[in-house]
Amino acid sequence: MHNSSEIEIPSNLTKAELYQRLRTELGAIVEGERDLIANTANCAALLFHSLPGINWAGFYFLKDDDLVLGPFQGKIACVRIGPGRGVCGAAVQKQETIVVQDVHAFPGHIACDSASKSEIVTPLKKPGRILGVLDLDSPLLGRFDGEDAAGLESLATFLVAASDTP
Ligand code: SME
Repeated sequence: MHNSSEIEIPSNLTKAELYQRLRTELGAIVEGERDLIANTANCAALLFHSLPGINWAGFYFLKDDDLVLGPFQGKIACVRIGPGRGVCGAAVQKQETIVVQDVHAFPGHIACDSASKSEIVTPLKKPGRILGVLDLDSPLLGRFDGEDAAGLESLATFLVAASDTP
């Protein structure tokens, strides 16, 4: 059993080191558990409480063609996102991570928390299909970069492999 009080991530790490540490923590948290909801819920909490400058971290899962809200941390969010809508829908269509430096400059951005200024969305990939997305919002402009994309893609890949998926 993983004891969350043991999680103590130093603040002086580089971004790459921080994501490496989060990957290790996530491995410990999901060890022995393959339930997708449980694992994504704890991943959302881990990211929300470990990454600086974040106001929302969570998951949407593809159900038929819509993205439906999954486990998250942050303010109440929109429940259902139609195909191609918002940053999340765009990430599904492109099947790649989308980094948005200024959400107000992104056509079709869906505002869930008015404090959000930048955003990153990473698809959860299974062979030949997209399962859903991992979405992070920040109240800071330009909060996310390629290192965040690489780090979150690595976490998403690990999470999908470590969980039973529909
Ligand atoms: N901003 C997202 C919607 C989800 S919330 O940020 C939690 C989008 O444009 O797809």
